[in-house]
Amino acid sequence: MTEELEVVDPQERFQDFFKTEKYRQRLSQMAVGGKTSLTVDFEDLLTFDQRIAEELLEKPEEYLKHANNAAYAQLQIEDPEYAEKTAAIDVRIVRLLQAAPLRKLGSQQIGKLVMVEGIVVRSSPVRPMVMQAAFRCKRCGTINPVNQTGSFLKAPFACSSPDCGSKGPFEFVQEESTFIDSQDLRVQERPEDLPPGQLPRTLNIKLVGSEIVDLARPGDHISAVGEVRAFAPTLPGVGKLRAFILHLDANSIEVLGKEPETVLPSPEEEQKILELSRDPWVHHKIVGSIAPSIYGYDHIKEAIMYLLFGGVPKTLPDISIRGEMNALLVGDPGTAKSQLLQYVARIAPRGLYTSGRGTTAAGLTAAVIREKGGGMSLEAGALVLADKGIACIDEMDKMRPEDRVAIHEAMEQHTVSVAKGGIVATLNARTAILAAANPALGRYEPHRTVSENISLPVTILSRFDLIFVIRDVPNKESDSKMSSHILEIHRKGSSPVETPIPVELLRKYISYAKGTKPILGQEAIKRLKDFYLAMRSASEAEGSPVAITARQLESLVRTAEARARVALRKEVSAEDAEAAIAIMKRSLEEVGIDLSSYKMDIDLIMTGKPKSMRDRLQIILSTLMEMEKETGIVEKTALLSELEVKHNIPRGEAERLIGQLLREGTVYEPRENYLKKT
Ligand SMILES: Nc1ncnc2c1ncn2[C@@H]1O[C@H](COP(=O)(O)OP(=O)(O)OP(=O)(O)O)[C@@H](O)[C@H]1O
Ligand SMILES: [Mg+2]
Ligand SMILES: [Zn+2]
Repeated sequence: MTEELEVVDPQERFQDFFKTEKYRQRLSQMAVGGKTSLTVDFEDLLTFDQRIAEELLEKPEEYLKHANNAAYAQLQIEDPEYAEKTAAIDVRIVRLLQAAPLRKLGSQQIGKLVMVEGIVVRSSPVRPMVMQAAFRCKRCGTINPVNQTGSFLKAPFACSSPDCGSKGPFEFVQEESTFIDSQDLRVQERPEDLPPGQLPRTLNIKLVGSEIVDLARPGDHISAVGEVRAFAPTLPGVGKLRAFILHLDANSIEVLGKEPETVLPSPEEEQKILELSRDPWVHHKIVGSIAPSIYGYDHIKEAIMYLLFGGVPKTLPDISIRGEMNALLVGDPGTAKSQLLQYVARIAPRGLYTSGRGTTAAGLTAAVIREKGGGMSLEAGALVLADKGIACIDEMDKMRPEDRVAIHEAMEQHTVSVAKGGIVATLNARTAILAAANPALGRYEPHRTVSENISLPVTILSRFDLIFVIRDVPNKESDSKMSSHILEIHRKGSSPVETPIPVELLRKYISYAKGTKPILGQEAIKRLKDFYLAMRSASEAEGSPVAITARQLESLVRTAEARARVALRKEVSAEDAEAAIAIMKRSLEEVGIDLSSYKMDIDLIMTGKPKSMRDRLQIILSTLMEMEKETGIVEKTALLSELEVKHNIPRGEAERLIGQLLREGTVYEPRENYLKKT
């Protein structure tokens, strides 16, 4: 009697499953969308028949065939007309109970059905793959169809015509062959799954079938179900290697929600979060919990807090405005910039640390890569991989020239566009950026302008909401405090400061807070507006520097929203607005003081030169052109004395400015000590 269980025909069992209400309905709706795949939730199958569900996981190749046949048989009952048209359908299994971690995939899983989750880093264009190849025998003209499997095109062994039977030669006939769309993807472990300090693992996924190709783009978080397969790479002239490479033959693929995996807090944790949010010192406590082992830098840690929580993005019918903030730390060597960035990448939900050069060929944005086997692929760079997270970019001044161009779009529009090698794509890069850079001259030179100090174009600088300068200036008091702090760390092997909030709770707090979308209160609007107008009117007097632009106003809004979010408040208060103004002022002061007039001058960031300097450069240029009219080329000493006498520009200052014009290429030296405008 026990035998009876064994003889259940799997195909019949599958068909019984497809006779359940939910799947009968799905089958009868296939014709509407002209679909050829039927999606099956694994859990439904498991509830229906645990045994068959388990067999499917163990022997997917065989059992998927049974499932396909059964689904087709049931389709013939539900919708015979459509069944007639489609000839076959594919059953696609989604949502296994558990995803297999990429780094645990190994020989035990070969041949099994698994689900993997990851982030797409690379995708090939969709290519037609031949399923049944037709070969014409060149001797007798007979067409020989050959079903294709594996990676290489197989020719018939011998002509099938009884009168011929010759072993070739054969000719491939495209019109008589059948093709199917295929695409290769490479997925990588998600940053949030990555054990600290490990390199992310990748897995290649092969997609076959017009209904599963072209669903996912680089940067997308996906879940794919498929059979794990292994193949031996071939070394030319040597043979196949014994160590196989794994890939996944996908049966289904789903693009997951774009939001970072929010690990829902437990009721006790939620209690703690709500309690903390009501604490009047919550901002203080969070700042104190950010990188407690790094001494000082409270204003930078405050900015990092705003960056972690972020402002609220606005999507209007005509434009969209980013909510994520960007901040830049420019500083002397050895001032813990890298340490801060690495810390932020660890605690931020979906945080990613990279150097300006990027860790892959795709750099910071994206690249078109030539694959080993020929063909092109689109590969996502760091900003695309950190979509909806925080990208910490160290040594940003050293980024690749291609990135310098592409990063403008990424920082403001939050997309990365590629058009190269036949691939045209726009990828999402909705990320907050925390960047660090060294001063162009090794150390920050306070008597020089910001853009002289940072080797980044002003167009990039102006996209940072907040910029801070970290200078390593000897100071007895702070040196003594900092050194005891550092020495204490080394003695104890742990931080000398108590963290008010444990890291795990802080991370959950951030995820939780992202759910609140604070809106500007009347009082906050008034404060921001007053500040903006005051700064603008300071520059109304003709010719005086423009202190602030609409970009800074948007930055202020983001900062104020982030601050409200930290306390889980639905409305941005006057206090939030004041704090945003204070930190913006601090940032502007650090970079924007016009040293000759001591007025804040946003031109310094926007055009790279303070107003007074631009005026002087303008005077030098016009004087030079004036003199050129008379003499053709101008002797340098003559120009210098003209400037000194007529325009009151001291000789040393004039020489420095001329040096700058020479470096910029606005002016050149046709002969030694002679100048000419280019
Ligand atoms: N304020 C500080 N508190 C604690 N440690 C510090 C502080 N400043 C520097 N350090 C220590 O100095 C070392 C150098 O820091 P880090 O490598 O982050 O510097 P950096 O700013 O990235 O320098 P570079 O510009 O050369 O890359 C680290 O071990 C860091 O812990
Ligand atoms: Mg560093
Ligand atoms: Zn033949």
